[in-house]
Amino acid sequence: MSEYLIGLDVSTTASKAVAIDVNGAVVATASHDHQLDTPRPLWSEQDPAEWWRASCASLRQVASVIPQGSIAALGLTGQMHGLTALDAQDEPLRPAILWNDQRSAAQCDAITEAIGEDKLYRLIGSRIFPGFTAPKIAWLREHEPEVFGRIAQVLLPKDYVRFLLSGERVTDVADGSGMALMDIGARDWSGEMLEALAIPRDWLPALTESQEVCAELSAAGAAASGLPVGTRIVGGAGDQPAGGVGSGVVDAGQLSLAMGTSGVAYAINDRYEPDQQGRLHTFCGPIPGTWFSMGVMLSAAGGLRWLRDALAPDMGFEELAALAEDIPPGAEGLLFAPWLSGERHPHPDPLARGAFVGLTLRHGLGHMVRAVMEGVAFGIRESLDLLQAQGLNPSDAVIQGGAVNSPLWRQLTTDIMDLPLYRVNTSEGAALGAAILAAVGVGAFPDVSTACATMVQRLDESLPQMALVERYNEIFATYRALYPALAPQFHQLSRLDA
Ligand code: XUL
Repeated sequence: MSEYLIGLDVSTTASKAVAIDVNGAVVATASHDHQLDTPRPLWSEQDPAEWWRASCASLRQVASVIPQGSIAALGLTGQMHGLTALDAQDEPLRPAILWNDQRSAAQCDAITEAIGEDKLYRLIGSRIFPGFTAPKIAWLREHEPEVFGRIAQVLLPKDYVRFLLSGERVTDVADGSGMALMDIGARDWSGEMLEALAIPRDWLPALTESQEVCAELSAAGAAASGLPVGTRIVGGAGDQPAGGVGSGVVDAGQLSLAMGTSGVAYAINDRYEPDQQGRLHTFCGPIPGTWFSMGVMLSAAGGLRWLRDALAPDMGFEELAALAEDIPPGAEGLLFAPWLSGERHPHPDPLARGAFVGLTLRHGLGHMVRAVMEGVAFGIRESLDLLQAQGLNPSDAVIQGGAVNSPLWRQLTTDIMDLPLYRVNTSEGAALGAAILAAVGVGAFPDVSTACATMVQRLDESLPQMALVERYNEIFATYRALYPALAPQFHQLSRLDA
């Protein structure tokens, strides 16, 4: 068979292509940035043309270093939940409304009221959040009726790129789950949700499993991307499930902690068991017959970037981390509440805000860096606690995302989780996962577990240090009290701000 697989990740910040061989060795990568727009506080939008421009540039670059005729297949992944509304001529009607946009809280309340909490959580595997696709469609109906009236189809970000590459309107069940329009247990669109929201079925793409070949590159797609006409495209998956595949978390009971822009605790199950109170997302897994549960923090390693940009724009992350090395655990009584973008889990509150609590004259930048690192890890621990309450009993977890580059952040996360955390031999995450799904789709491996066993290797492991585990348990108790104490003030501040 042809030798190379390509994964394309249409993320929030960039479109990144990765080419691998069948052993999982990365032979080429390319990435081109996207512009992100925040036209109002709590809004987050992107021009779909950005994805197409950046995807084509990255695919061309990768294709140029691979021998012609040796590309076996392409897998797609990307930011989840984004609403791309197209008109009858297949043109985007407005900028896409992204996963971290918080404008549709009122629509979420109305949908929850209409369906009823228990039934809703059972159907869509989660509470409904403003970032999800369905409430954003409802928002358009109320606030931009002229746009709503012209909608002919809705696509997720990576599926818009697939559409331009192939002419096919398809999404995979793992990404489709995040639209809040599926019956997750049945792995199909939910007639009940569509009816309740008065959304026509023909606005939605066809559904496929993540590893299935569902499209081929068209002549137009080939001309734009530099890949051969007819290149097979598999379903792929949203960035979180694809990232799970890319780090080898594919079997029931395995756990991943991803600390990138957002922070995610992610585990696989071979049964559909959503949290009865909807406190996690439980969505279709990227492997047939599996589901995944995840707790999502909207701002994780992004919190350190914010701190750097705000207070020390000339410093690198290593330099910042070095300042925090000398600060004791707990940052001498300084806590950071990491909710800079509102929050999903475990505090479903778009109006939640960030906070430093406990500042004194003694505290400097190093304390703040340490407090941010610890606050992010405490936030993920709250999601891990929810997964454990669901019966997950992990003996270790893979840790990934920007935060793993800092040995300090890795170790303090290990101590805060009280769990051995290992890294894997790749940092290509979701794009690699999409390429692995492509490898399975074209028959290079019998299944995803076998592909991961060949392609993903464990590297070093960090172990919890007992004295610090105990210290952090004490601090965590105080951290947990922050949200209930501060939520009324967050809400009041949003009113003042409005
Ligand atoms: C997952 C989620 C984010 C986005 C952006 O539910 O919203 O992970 O996919 O990366």
